[in-house]
Amino acid sequence: MGDARIYVTRRLPEVAMRILEQAGAVKVWTEDLPPPREVLEAEIAEVEGLLCLLTDVVDEMLLCRARKLKVVSNMAVGYDNIDVGACTARGILVTNTPGVLTETTADLTFALLLGVARRITEAERFLRAGQWETWSPMLLAGQDVYGAIIGIVGMGRIGQAVARRARGFDMQILYASRSAHPEVERTLGARRVQLEELLRNSDFVTLHVPLTPETRGLVGERELRLMKSTAILINTARGPVVDEVALVRALREGWIAGAGLDVYAQEPIAADHPLLKLDNVVLLPHIGSASVKTRTRMAVMAAENLVAALAGQLPHSVVNPEAWGDRGRP
Ligand code: DGY
Repeated sequence: MGDARIYVTRRLPEVAMRILEQAGAVKVWTEDLPPPREVLEAEIAEVEGLLCLLTDVVDEMLLCRARKLKVVSNMAVGYDNIDVGACTARGILVTNTPGVLTETTADLTFALLLGVARRITEAERFLRAGQWETWSPMLLAGQDVYGAIIGIVGMGRIGQAVARRARGFDMQILYASRSAHPEVERTLGARRVQLEELLRNSDFVTLHVPLTPETRGLVGERELRLMKSTAILINTARGPVVDEVALVRALREGWIAGAGLDVYAQEPIAADHPLLKLDNVVLLPHIGSASVKTRTRMAVMAAENLVAALAGQLPHSVVNPEAWGDRGRP
């Protein structure tokens, strides 16, 4: 089919596909794994809209082939897989899916935090391996979450949703963020501090920043060594925000007590990665937003963004409104 107007890099829920079909012929990559680069390069040449996932790299080289492309709609809130500057230079809109995944991702963050603190997956492995012989005083004893100090790095939508959950656990909330959030301070009792103070004082450090040149490697050896030896690091943001080599050392050598990770420097993580050999980590396969309801809402939002852009309307969530230029102005 050479006349598709839209290319979709993975099968989406039916409700989202129906929205896309309103805008014209849609071609879908139906395999489970992402389309190979050469397929993407060939498909991008003729379409006006691309709906992609965070596994698809949209860079300068790909865009060079995109003669008619008007919009790249990412089914994710993060868009570090897309060269936004290169899109803007070509007048191509980039859209994302903020808001709809906030609470689901905060839930998963707390699941990880509780999982590491209370050694849930380690305890389950122990039981399944038939090692449970008796109740004993310190068997699989972990750390309390209730009343502990949480340090939230990045106080955007998801950071704030995590703070609300932390309040329910009567946690003391520290946060480090580019801007102050007086409302969060007033309603949740959060206190804004420098990153260094947050790292030194928190029992749990949780990351909620986008991946940018400024946040790449934000938590490295120096930062990990500042943390308490009893502290736990949670990352549901992006893998490269943490220096993974330093993290493995920190976990092995006891600079910190544990980590809960949903994201990695390379995804999927290699089967022989040293993190997989450690008991003091809980590892998930990038499922922060993975509830049926939220993934469906993300797909619908991505489809609506794309359809709006092709209809000449400014989509709901545009990353680079400057690419819109004078279009739509009276
Ligand atoms: C995002 O949206 O950026 C997440 O990583 C996937 O939901």
